[in-house]
Amino acid sequence: MTTTVLIVILFCLLDLSASLKNSTFFSKEAELVSILLDGYSARVRPRDKNGKTKVNVGITLSQIMSLSEKSEVMMSSMYMTYTWVDPRFSWNESKYDGILVTRISVDRIWVPNIIIKNSKERNLKESLRVNALVFHNGSVQWLPPAIYKTSCTMDVTLFPFDWQNCSMVFRSADHDQSEMIFEFPITKTLLYFFLSVYIKNGEWVLYQKPAYVVEKKSDEQFQEVWFTVILCRKPQFYVLNMLLPCVMISILSCFVFHLPVVAGEKIGLSISLLLGDTIFVFLFAQRMPSTALTVPHVATYLLFSMILLFLSIFCCVVVYNFHFRSNVTHEMPRVWKWLFFDKFAPLLGLQQPHRKE
Ligand SMILES: *[C@@H]1O[C@H](CO)[C@@H](O)[C@H](O)[C@H]1NC(C)=O
Ligand SMILES: *[C@@H]1O[C@H](CO)[C@@H](O)[C@H](O)[C@H]1NC(C)=O
Ligand SMILES: *[C@@H]1O[C@H](CO)[C@@H](O)[C@H](O)[C@H]1NC(C)=O
Ligand SMILES: *[C@@H]1O[C@H](CO)[C@@H](O)[C@H](O)[C@H]1NC(C)=O
Repeated sequence: MTTTVLIVILFCLLDLSASLKNSTFFSKEAELVSILLDGYSARVRPRDKNGKTKVNVGITLSQIMSLSEKSEVMMSSMYMTYTWVDPRFSWNESKYDGILVTRISVDRIWVPNIIIKNSKERNLKESLRVNALVFHNGSVQWLPPAIYKTSCTMDVTLFPFDWQNCSMVFRSADHDQSEMIFEFPITKTLLYFFLSVYIKNGEWVLYQKPAYVVEKKSDEQFQEVWFTVILCRKPQFYVLNMLLPCVMISILSCFVFHLPVVAGEKIGLSISLLLGDTIFVFLFAQRMPSTALTVPHVATYLLFSMILLFLSIFCCVVVYNFHFRSNVTHEMPRVWKWLFFDKFAPLLGLQQPHRKE
């Protein structure tokens, strides 16, 4: 009983597929796509004469969104440009109403499985799988947009006059360099980094943008594409908001010594300045990575200025102690009494009015 039903269903399906195959297409393009994908396996990579797949990689940088010193992450948005030749996709355009290019979903054709090696996220791949452009001569072009979070070791020694070297490393997920090789669109190893749609960042200036392919020695290893950006920081904000106030505090700390003791404000002034300095140390510590690889010069300066303020408070206490001594609070040690009253006073021609022994 069940087998008969199954056979009937199977025949119906076969009939349906045959009639679908034979149905007239809505347009020439639909017919073309259907013919191109007929018998196409998305798992098989296209090969050239040497059995390799050459993939051109380009990046159009659209924005450096942020570069965080604390977590050492660069967030950038860009369009990748992958171009390769798939000989299975070639047609005579005069047979198809002069169609030169068509768009096919990347889930149905072979696309290079490229991952980003130094990603700081779980997602290693493109966020949006847009359609690929298939040309009549077999060229396929795929431009997925992506937002990448890549790790970037920061050197903050010269903060805020520093520059950073951040790289994005791409490699194939499943083809080593005996099967798949990377190239840059213009020449094999030229810098390639489009900036046609680049939106400037307020804090960072893009200074250099080299890109290169790293070939590994052994064939079983994966080739890597390195895109590097050298970013220079614009220091104005930090100079105005951090450096100048710190310098002013240091200058003020000199005036503590100029203040007369009777004003009674020496210690008050020193402690206010010390508090001000502590706020800057705190602000600074919040921004910097908590690694011990490099010590920023600004941190050393802040520490030095704190030590100076600490010493000035110490001096103030000693000065106050001497200044406010009187015969009520202190008694002179015997040695000093002997030295000053018995030895020096006669030498200087001083006389003691009435001295009790
Ligand atoms: C497909 O259509 C053609 C003509 O329109 C016809 O000769 C042929 O028999 C049809 N094939 C099938 C499988 O229906
Ligand atoms: C394409 O088709 C036209 C007409 O059928 C033919 O004249 C031309 O030679 C073909 N071109 C190629 C490259 O096969
Ligand atoms: C295929 O054609 C496109 C557009 O006409 C062109 O950009 C591309 O370089 C061609 N590819 C090859 C391999 O000839
Ligand atoms: C940036 O870093 C890369 C990789 O570590 C290195 O090859 C390159 O020389 C560095 N560039 C500069 C200007 O230091």
